[in-house]
Amino acid sequence: METKKIILTGDRPTGPLHLGHFVGSLQNRVKLQYDYDQHIMIADVQALTDNFENPDKVRKNILEVAYDYLAVGIDPKTSTIFIQSMIPEIADLTVFYLNLVTVARLERNPTVKDEIRQKGFGSNVTAGFLCYPVSQAADITVFNADLVPVGADQLPMIEQTVEIVRKFNNIYEPIFVEPQAMVPETGGRLSGIDGQAKMSKSLNNAIYLSDSAEDLKKKIMSMFTDPSHIRVEDPGTIEGNTVFAYIDVFDTDKDRVAELKAHYQRGGLGDVKVKKHLNDILQAILEPIREQRKTFSSDPAQVTQILREGTQQARQKAAQTMNKVRKAMKIDYF
Ligand code: TRP
Repeated sequence: METKKIILTGDRPTGPLHLGHFVGSLQNRVKLQYDYDQHIMIADVQALTDNFENPDKVRKNILEVAYDYLAVGIDPKTSTIFIQSMIPEIADLTVFYLNLVTVARLERNPTVKDEIRQKGFGSNVTAGFLCYPVSQAADITVFNADLVPVGADQLPMIEQTVEIVRKFNNIYEPIFVEPQAMVPETGGRLSGIDGQAKMSKSLNNAIYLSDSAEDLKKKIMSMFTDPSHIRVEDPGTIEGNTVFAYIDVFDTDKDRVAELKAHYQRGGLGDVKVKKHLNDILQAILEPIREQRKTFSSDPAQVTQILREGTQQARQKAAQTMNKVRKAMKIDYF
């Protein structure tokens, strides 16, 4: 009997996953997968909303993201990994949900607003892009998910999902649970290596789980620190110093971190030394992931099979929900 609570979460296949994903949600998913009925979606439909002219890119990154999942320890025996576009029930449900959302509400979503600004869409934003939070509400609810482990930038999506669920339950029949976001204590935000608030592929400031040891080291050595910390003897600043922000996230020896910070602020501790310390810590975390990833990526047929099986399982569950939806909406004709 299935009594576990349900998780639905996912990522856009627009590139391999990075440390921001790792801190923001991947670690949580690995932890939660044994206690929850976890579904992890490779969101190709959502990726296409701003990459519709680049189908090759989305296609290529399906497997890259799957390798990343498996490499960090997401276990296909307990987590259902699947591809969004292969579940047409999600698209069905999206169409019905579109009636429950106003255009004004879509335009107020802060994450979407940021993205529109960042991508320079302006008033040329497509309907598909503006509406992706509605599709995301369908992703989550078609599996009747209780919990959605995501980074803080995704909170507006969950909020919008809850609004849609309430409206649906109110107008038709109360068939959906209101999902809850699960954001890591740190907020799950990891800045880019250049100090910009968000680590992202498009900003070219990301450390990938698949980066080689040399690339990782190079990126750490180029990280933004305290621009006024010129000579080793100078006192340095911790606030806004990306290297220390990372050390805070990844170094579990908090006494050592406090000592390092005090030394840096006092003067006499050079950036290179601090960066080497961060490099040691991150290499230790990423080395086993990189090795695992190599094993999985050497057998794409096996990983494709994992996706095929996951997608079949996911589709069955989605179809069950759609039967209820059709009944509730009185469109279950025959
Ligand atoms: N919007 C998420 C991101 O950009 C990806 C995503 C799509 C997702 N559908 C989802 C996350 C459903 C959680 C639940 O990272």
